[in-house]
Amino acid sequence: MTLERIAGMERLSLVIGGHVDHGKSTIIGRLLADTGSLPEGKLLQVRHACERAGTPFEWAFLLDALKDEQSQGITIDSARVFFRTAKRHYIIIDAPGHIEFLRNMITGAARAEAALLVIDANEGVQENTRRHGYMMSLLGIRQLAVLINKMDLVGFDRDVFDRTVVEYRGFLAQLDVHPEAFIPVSGREGSNIATREEAMSWYTGPTVLEQLDRFVPETPPVEKPYRMPVQDVYRFPQLGDNRRIVAGTIEGGVLRVGDEVVFYPSGKRGHVRTLEGFNRPAAAQVASGEATGFTLEEQIYVQRGELATRATEAAPLVATRLKASIFWLGRRPLVPRKDYLLKLGSARATMRVEEIHRVVDASTLEGVAGRRQVERHEVAECTLTLDRAIAFDLPDRCVTTGRFVIVEDYEICGGGIAQAALTDHHSEVRQRVFLRNYKWEPSSISIEQRAERYRQQPALVLITGEKEIDRKALARRLERHLFEIGNVVYFLGIGNVLYGLDSDIERTAEDRPEHLRRLAEVANVMLNAGVILIVTAVELTSEDAELLRITIDSSLIETVWVGSPVTTDISYDLLLEDPEGEEAVQQIKHRLRERGVLFRPWQVG
Ligand code: GTP
Ligand code: MG
Repeated sequence: MTLERIAGMERLSLVIGGHVDHGKSTIIGRLLADTGSLPEGKLLQVRHACERAGTPFEWAFLLDALKDEQSQGITIDSARVFFRTAKRHYIIIDAPGHIEFLRNMITGAARAEAALLVIDANEGVQENTRRHGYMMSLLGIRQLAVLINKMDLVGFDRDVFDRTVVEYRGFLAQLDVHPEAFIPVSGREGSNIATREEAMSWYTGPTVLEQLDRFVPETPPVEKPYRMPVQDVYRFPQLGDNRRIVAGTIEGGVLRVGDEVVFYPSGKRGHVRTLEGFNRPAAAQVASGEATGFTLEEQIYVQRGELATRATEAAPLVATRLKASIFWLGRRPLVPRKDYLLKLGSARATMRVEEIHRVVDASTLEGVAGRRQVERHEVAECTLTLDRAIAFDLPDRCVTTGRFVIVEDYEICGGGIAQAALTDHHSEVRQRVFLRNYKWEPSSISIEQRAERYRQQPALVLITGEKEIDRKALARRLERHLFEIGNVVYFLGIGNVLYGLDSDIERTAEDRPEHLRRLAEVANVMLNAGVILIVTAVELTSEDAELLRITIDSSLIETVWVGSPVTTDISYDLLLEDPEGEEAVQQIKHRLRERGVLFRPWQVG
């Protein structure tokens, strides 16, 4: 029963949480066995293996054994286990630790619609029981059943059950989470999993399987606006195929041939020419958790990290500043003035905490204001700033496109959900660029056709450095050299813009952003024409670079800092300590070759 085979039939995704050793794996094993979802003879095989080894049988072993056979793709794949009842198919996500739990809920194919929380009757409510409950509430999972497990260890005692229920119900109520059921079970004995336990005749509620079938699948995502984070843009030039396939996994909604698609944050748009299924052709693409793609009528540059939407539906939010609720799991505290990586959908951005508004201990629910950092296992309301704009939705529109993870040193250290988009001082420029892209009239000559003709990719070579250094001389030498070897290249002197296009604005520090914006707009047009454009500027800062990146495709910009030292906070692609030397032009040329801007002599296109 692979995902492909169950596509199209009713299915429900569950996540299972709870404190260490409280019995998650045991309950999953039971569910598999009692629903007849195990491969023939598997259970016996594992029981016999345990007997031979002289170890007591554990249901967790059974899951491990199934994991080892992943290649058969039968009931288990990484953290996901599949089983079915008479009513529908289930995907259950088992997460051994906090980080895995968070990762599975936010990334991965996991879109849990309901949750099971397991509590050991003997040990009662523990830290993780509370934290998992909090995470579920934070991530917007509203359907929950609490299983009080190992009832056999407490003699199936009703009082123990009642006490645990009262305690945990009270905790969840503070989060405004109200479980559909509290079920006394024994995973080991199979009590109240699929069949009722006579020793607990005092319990008249549903069994676990009955409760599962009572959960309601989330609003089918097809009724939500279309959302597809762009994972990749594929091209197959070597096959003489000029199509660009925009690929990703659909998070919601439906897409059909002919639909107008708008990409955020760029605002670029086009009409769907074909839908690419990778597995099968389809009349319409619907949210499915599988990789899909489409081609467009128009030739436009789309990048990984954008969010594809339909023009006729609600637009997502776009911002570099946002308010968010964050769940922190890092060993080191989350602190302001430090760079982290934020991953939301396919978008990546460098993130900083601008302000911590409120911090809550996820286990005790105690809240404090005025804190300088967020400790492990705390939840915080923060304002975040990003180094680039990302597109997202708020939970009431689409939960999955508002969830993100935070990475520190290559490890997921936290997760969260966007609560509001805030403005920043570039919001206005971004708005203009969005409109420009939206209104852009695409050329009938494709980017590839131009590249093939000119034997180059367009690029903006930004030469910057201290005032005393002669940047223009280098720019001229570079222009001359590239021209002589056959490139389409242009050095745009600032004066050409200042006294023409910019003649209506002053030349004070305050006007600098507007000068830069206009320069970037001119550059954008020339890049679209396929040109290698060289521009010089005094001491560009990262702030300036950001403005340029908003206006121009950042992948087309090559920044060269000339002279040392580097006197601003800009990050550059190439440092030329001796711009007057013979080698300077060759070094830039080498860099452009490496980046595929200049084709090598034997390259065709
Ligand atoms: P982690 O994945 O390590 O967090 O543990 P888990 O929550 O998956 O627990 P697991 O199912 O591995 O069970 C932990 C221990 O509790 C095992 O030794 C089980 O045999 C035991 N156990 C689980 N359920 C029951 C039960 O209903 N009754 C009894 N007596 N023991 C149980
Ligand atoms: Mg386990």
